[in-house]
Amino acid sequence: MAIKLVTTAAQLRTESARLLTEKQGSSQGLVPTMGALHEGHARLARTAVEQNDVVVASIFVNPLQFGEAVDLDRYPRTLEADMELLDAEGVDLVFAPSVEEVYPGGEPLVRVTAGRLAEKWEGASRPGHFDGALTVVAKLLHYGFPGAGLSGGGAFVTGAGAGLPAYRAYFGQKDAQQLTLVRRMVADLNFPVEIVAVPTVRSADGLALSSRNRFLSGEEREAALVLSRALRLLEERANAHEPLDLESAQSLVESQPLVGLDYFDVVDPDTLEPLAENCKETPFRGEGLAIIAAKVGPVRLIDNVPLNS
Ligand code: PAJ
Repeated sequence: MAIKLVTTAAQLRTESARLLTEKQGSSQGLVPTMGALHEGHARLARTAVEQNDVVVASIFVNPLQFGEAVDLDRYPRTLEADMELLDAEGVDLVFAPSVEEVYPGGEPLVRVTAGRLAEKWEGASRPGHFDGALTVVAKLLHYGFPGAGLSGGGAFVTGAGAGLPAYRAYFGQKDAQQLTLVRRMVADLNFPVEIVAVPTVRSADGLALSSRNRFLSGEEREAALVLSRALRLLEERANAHEPLDLESAQSLVESQPLVGLDYFDVVDPDTLEPLAENCKETPFRGEGLAIIAAKVGPVRLIDNVPLNS
């Protein structure tokens, strides 16, 4: 395997600086993950490799973003297989730090507050989740900053214009609320990084790939297909300039006994506010995001499709 594993921030700085020099690179990409990688993560890695000279993928199961300790303990850890997948995509470095490396001395006192956008949808059923996720994303964006080791200084400026490497970080559209919040954090707090969104990867039957799908029984997996079907219905209506008729799509989901619907709505992709009026009698206009979350058996699933009409 050509890919290299590093576990400390110091190693990451040295190795990424070495690679940038060796390749005479002018760009670095970061792909943050929690491991248990599948084709969705592979797509992120592939996109990053296409667009950057040096690519770092991080694998860190972040305790701050888990509500229940059991979920944290149960999170699948598959480092060997993950490394193989990332190597096949051409990723240069895997940064897989320990909890002690990321949070020396325990949980951080100062954290990122995700604010109002984090209180609804996923945030409503997972209090504190997005604060924890944004806090680690902030740290990961700093760890992955290119060129910090080049001068030995770590001056915090980037962009081709400054003669320093461009810096891009890759996030999946699958976790739409997370993506919106990461974009807000980067804009609101002036992080010197470009956020690149990667479309959701699905299995052939439409189910959005997720590390949680492994916990579904055959019957539950079959039932879960109603989520992507309902979203596709809305997408087709938007494309055909028809009224979305969210209610009928919702009934389709509710007719599936194994599926416990949490929310299903069409929102503004930037504010995450419902576009309710746009979804009734009149044809859908503009840009929206259809979002859905449901419990299928023991597993909470989320999915979404961008609407453009
Ligand atoms: P994780 O769930 O491992 O996801 C890592 C990245 O892969 C996220 O940006 C996610 O949106 C993307 N992803 C997952 N499934 C996908 C699919 N089917 N298609 C496309 N992209 C997909 O999200 C996290 O980790 C964490 O919250 C993290 C950002 C790493 C912070 O801890």
